[in-house]
Amino acid sequence: MAGGTGAVGRHVVDVLRERGHEAVVLARSAGVDLVTGRDLDLGGVDAVVDVTSVSTQKQAEAESFFGAVTGHLLEAGKASGVGHHVVLSIVGIDDAPTGYYRGKVLQERLVEEGGVPWTILRATQFHEFAAQILAALRVGPLHPVPVMRNEPVAAREVAEHLADRVEKGPAGRVPDLGGPREERMADMARAYLRHTGRRGFVLPVPVPGAGGRAMRDGTLVTGAGAVHGRQTYAEWLAAQPR
Ligand SMILES: NC(=O)c1ccc[n+]([C@@H]2O[C@H](COP(=O)([O-])OP(=O)(O)OC[C@H]3O[C@@H](n4cnc5c(N)ncnc54)[C@H](OP(=O)(O)O)[C@@H]3O)[C@@H](O)[C@H]2O)c1
Repeated sequence: MAGGTGAVGRHVVDVLRERGHEAVVLARSAGVDLVTGRDLDLGGVDAVVDVTSVSTQKQAEAESFFGAVTGHLLEAGKASGVGHHVVLSIVGIDDAPTGYYRGKVLQERLVEEGGVPWTILRATQFHEFAAQILAALRVGPLHPVPVMRNEPVAAREVAEHLADRVEKGPAGRVPDLGGPREERMADMARAYLRHTGRRGFVLPVPVPGAGGRAMRDGTLVTGAGAVHGRQTYAEWLAAQPR
């Protein structure tokens, strides 16, 4: 479980263990740095699930991170005869030219060409996304948030789909996974502030450039053939601590 301590990774570990699998966490906090790849040994591992991430919008940093992590996992996987490499990616990355998404495009290509049988699942943003954006930027009482159409999905449900994919075996690119309905980012942010009893005003801001256009025009929501989670943002929020 590469990234098994993260927002979705911790759920993947839980789901796999609940289903009786042994899940070994690979993360810096568990003593494994996948960027250096030092001492990485995948002996005895049937499947690798990669849900690592880096916090950057810079293309060079994103490509360097996903290139190194993916390269080391594939190299060690081939050396140990790992039979399945599962990666979580993001809906719409080919048409949303941001630095982070360029890193994900590189990650997908390396997996497709990497010589280990693979599955790539693309999902939309998690329900946590609005809170992450609120935490990232605040100007006095104002919370600028991007004008964005999105289709948030519960991280736990993404984890269940990833565990299903581990159990089904290598399948290549599988149908995209989105949430049950579309939401506007500003509405999600206002609801989050209300739920957590915080003051402040949400200010929707159109992000300039092609990346911002992709946020607004529906590039990041699912299209035909996608599968959908069940838990709505409102249901997820109601279950969060106040
Ligand atoms: N968040 C979303 O809305 C969303 C939606 C769709 C797809 N995705 C994709 O899902 C994946 C997981 O996203 P997330 O939001 O769950 O990420 P996250 O919460 O930021 O977690 C990142 C994980 O990567 C690990 N990690 C970071 N650097 C590492 C390194 N050098 N070596 C080993 N482990 C390292 C972290 O653990 P340590 O810090 O302990 O190393 C952590 O377990 C990403 O690939 C992302 O593109 C995310």
